[in-house]
Amino acid sequence: MTSAATTSATSYKSAQAHYLSPKRRDPVKRLMEEPASRAVLTRAVTKLDLPAEAPLRVLDLGSGTGDGIHLLTATDDTNPPVIAGNRLDYVGLDGDADMVRTASSLHPSAAFIHADMRGELPDNDFDLYLSCGVPYSHLTPSETIDVLTGIFTRARTAQRRTAVIVDVLGRFSIEWTPQWQHHQWDYAMTFFHDAPERVQSPMTFYSCSDLTAVIAAAARAANVRPRHLDFTDRSVLVGRHTTTRTFNADIQPYRQLINDLAEGTPATPWRRLRFEPPTAKAPSAITQFFRDLSSRWNAQVDRAGAHLAPHQPVPGTQGPLLARTLLECERRAQQGLGAAHSLIATIVIDPA
Ligand SMILES: C[S@@+](CC[C@H](N)C(=O)[O-])C[C@H]1O[C@@H](n2cnc3c(N)ncnc32)[C@H](O)[C@@H]1O
Repeated sequence: MTSAATTSATSYKSAQAHYLSPKRRDPVKRLMEEPASRAVLTRAVTKLDLPAEAPLRVLDLGSGTGDGIHLLTATDDTNPPVIAGNRLDYVGLDGDADMVRTASSLHPSAAFIHADMRGELPDNDFDLYLSCGVPYSHLTPSETIDVLTGIFTRARTAQRRTAVIVDVLGRFSIEWTPQWQHHQWDYAMTFFHDAPERVQSPMTFYSCSDLTAVIAAAARAANVRPRHLDFTDRSVLVGRHTTTRTFNADIQPYRQLINDLAEGTPATPWRRLRFEPPTAKAPSAITQFFRDLSSRWNAQVDRAGAHLAPHQPVPGTQGPLLARTLLECERRAQQGLGAAHSLIATIVIDPA
């Protein structure tokens, strides 16, 4: 562990318990969020066209306790590992000293650097500049442009193609409809398990066009033209704040309801699973997206409830299948609009 610039926007000291808690890997995370992230990473790594057996050199920005290693090397129901563990050459970088200490003890064979991503980045050649868990949302848009300009400039002079994953908070998530008119506001991670205090900080929220503009500004400044750019919405109806309802008291606790279904312990009337599209002012593509998702989602819910009285829960035996069906429904519907908890951009850059 080395130490460079050390000021991160937020102290995560009270978040250690959450990141280490087994409760964090709830069914929604295991069944949908991790596979969805892995699918994004697999597509990005495939586009790199790495020589057979070549290592994948990764810099994970805002690496926290090193979850990026798990995403890259573990397997799940639907995806093989993104890369075999013995081909991963991983460096994690985080602005929080406790996170770096914990990550280093959990992953003794990986390198972790205590540094601010807004400062000088390690100057090794990396194939993949990873981010997960929305670290870029801790930055202002102009800070993100600066960080990406540095990465894109490095990619222009690299020996091989480079992929960059930019993970941010989606502006039009149902978790915070009252905030849809704002790009930046004080966000609080009140979902941390067993944390003595809540992590609160100003964060930046992005629609697809907001993030496209930031990426385009960085590409212009670095004089590169991305070979590939796409966007993925992750956790449309099941972001963690649907259950805390910290920023929107008017929604059903979908994440908890789906977790209960997946665990075969649904306890609430089946009709609470239905989803009515939000009425908050939004661009027409967002409004239309939620209308379409609502019809598809409710068709599945109504089918499950067809033979039940309105106050009855779905039988426990049918819960796990319905949970998977609904998670797959939102995953298929996503369009990368910034209409979910996370918006993930995948950028691929060729050397000049
Ligand atoms: C929500 S956590 C995600 C951690 C990890 N990537 C994961 O998915 O579990 C966001 C991380 O970004 C880090 N972070 C925030 N601002 C940063 C900055 N300016 N430089 C480096 N790290 C930063 C925080 O310390 C925190 O560990």
